[in-house]
Amino acid sequence: MAYELKSARYLAADILRRAVAPGDTVVDATMGNGHDTLFLCRLVGEQGRVYAFDVQEKAVENTRKRLAEAGMLDRAVLFCQGHEYMAAQVKEPVAAVVFNLGWLPGGDHSVTTRWETTRQAVEGALALLRPGGMLVICAYPGHAEGDRERRALADMLSSLPPQQFNVLWHRFLNAGPGAPECFAVQRQ
Ligand SMILES: C[S@@+](CC[C@H](N)C(=O)[O-])C[C@H]1O[C@@H](n2cnc3c(N)ncnc32)[C@H](O)[C@@H]1O
Repeated sequence: MAYELKSARYLAADILRRAVAPGDTVVDATMGNGHDTLFLCRLVGEQGRVYAFDVQEKAVENTRKRLAEAGMLDRAVLFCQGHEYMAAQVKEPVAAVVFNLGWLPGGDHSVTTRWETTRQAVEGALALLRPGGMLVICAYPGHAEGDRERRALADMLSSLPPQQFNVLWHRFLNAGPGAPECFAVQRQ
């Protein structure tokens, strides 16, 4: 097959690869085990900066270890703090903000992202995007809070003014109601 339709995570990575350039400043709003933070560190290069947030100390530890092993710790600023504080911590326009919603893989499922704080963080992220900047969100409607978050997110993003933002919602219509979805928002 010359081209294959792939998962929400795949699309998110593909968009970020095109949207982020060496020297950029970006945000990972949900650090988790640090896979996305490391991916972003590679994209921004030696002169770039990645701000990353998670509420769990374990996530910050895992990410710090992963970045140190890759020799990229100096490209990142890690906050053991909720992403709802993003706008208070990041003071410069950014090329991209990434959310991978839900819980820490292999961790406590009760510590999951929740719409009340996700909403505040998404508002902060939209305000931080530079012109052409990209917000990418992977959502997991296969569990109750994830479904609530996905629906509310779709409502919120649908109401963004088209003169300022382009909004894409990627989902596989025949993969069942729990299949991961990807939202991408670009500031004009
Ligand atoms: C699906 S995981 C992220 C996976 C991660 N991007 C990776 O590459 O490994 C979601 C993460 O969101 C974190 N989280 C939950 N509430 C949060 C909040 N208010 N602010 C920031 N992170 C939060 C969880 O602790 C969990 O680690």
